[in-house]
Amino acid sequence: MPRPIQATVHTSALRQNLQRIREAAPDARVWAVVKANAYGHGIERVFEGLRGTDGFALLDLDEARRVRALGWRGPILLLEGVFEPRDLELCSRLGLWHTVHCDEQIDMLALHKTHEPHRVFLKMNSGMNRLGFTPERYRAAWTRLNALPQVDEISLMTHFSDADGPAGVAAQVARFAQATRDLPGERTLSNSAAVLRHARDAGVRADWIRPGIALYGSSPDHPEHGAADWRLQPTLTLTARVIAVQSLQAGDTVGYGSTFRAERPMRVGVVACGYADGYPRLCPTGTPVLVDGVRSQTLGRVSMDMLVVDLSALPQSGFGSRVTLWGRGDAGACLSIDEVAAQAGTVGYELMCALAARVPVVVED
Ligand SMILES: Cc1ncc(COP(=O)(O)O)c(C=O)c1O
Repeated sequence: MPRPIQATVHTSALRQNLQRIREAAPDARVWAVVKANAYGHGIERVFEGLRGTDGFALLDLDEARRVRALGWRGPILLLEGVFEPRDLELCSRLGLWHTVHCDEQIDMLALHKTHEPHRVFLKMNSGMNRLGFTPERYRAAWTRLNALPQVDEISLMTHFSDADGPAGVAAQVARFAQATRDLPGERTLSNSAAVLRHARDAGVRADWIRPGIALYGSSPDHPEHGAADWRLQPTLTLTARVIAVQSLQAGDTVGYGSTFRAERPMRVGVVACGYADGYPRLCPTGTPVLVDGVRSQTLGRVSMDMLVVDLSALPQSGFGSRVTLWGRGDAGACLSIDEVAAQAGTVGYELMCALAARVPVVVED
């Protein structure tokens, strides 16, 4: 028997989240962002749920190859562009569109031999100071690209640093709009937070949006809004079973470091999930779980293969009970990955991406 732990990818939830995103930006085409192996879900596992998208955006060339191998003939965008000259050969062969964010990438393109000119997305650093040409240098980069026979169409792109917070997107939108004023080409600006929070703001409408996290049912601006506030559905559930039950007396402790001490007699369940499965070790006592669909909490430190939950108020639950660490529980209950992530001082993105390879994953409708 394998260890009783399982992750489930929900295809219908992916489909519904994509639809929800389309409603928020009805005029835009959608790049479904599937980098980091579809935010930990597995590209092959999300493909069916996201195939209604207009394109897939990612950054690992091997992941692009996998999307083509699934039979996808539509657009694929490399969000970081190429890393070395031979990557351009793969772009030519697989028809990949690629971001151009630095002079070195233009140099590589200028030396590339191809019969099929490439579609490129010229990235502006409008304030995030990660990738892209500054507004002052953007036009010169565009002019240089435009003169290359290797380049077909040039689209214009930037990325927001604060779409999820109070600073918002206005300053970056203004910089982008000003520096691209009379440049032709399609535009792509918004991540999930910008789509959900700012789609109707002046200047934010664009030809393509680039949602990632919202497609996976996690709120981009938790805790200000939860996934349910945005009408997003969890696409990843992590469950494990209770493999042992202990009865504690007042004063007994739980787990490494004895960080939890019982104040009264308690019943606790030992669950077959630990940090080696991707559950954060930083989750403290009190992190929510669902036991047979009923909300309870963790007790003590998370160890490599196990964690402990409170069964004191759940007399029906015991050995073999199903514990939902995040996602869908029994009887329609739901535990948002964002709530668990917040307990560990992080975000849903990180928990999804950290799901360990040893956890078996099934795909459901
Ligand atoms: C350039 C770019 N566009 C879009 C996204 C998608 O962002 P989110 O998952 O917040 O929607 C990312 C993710 O970091 C990104 O780097």
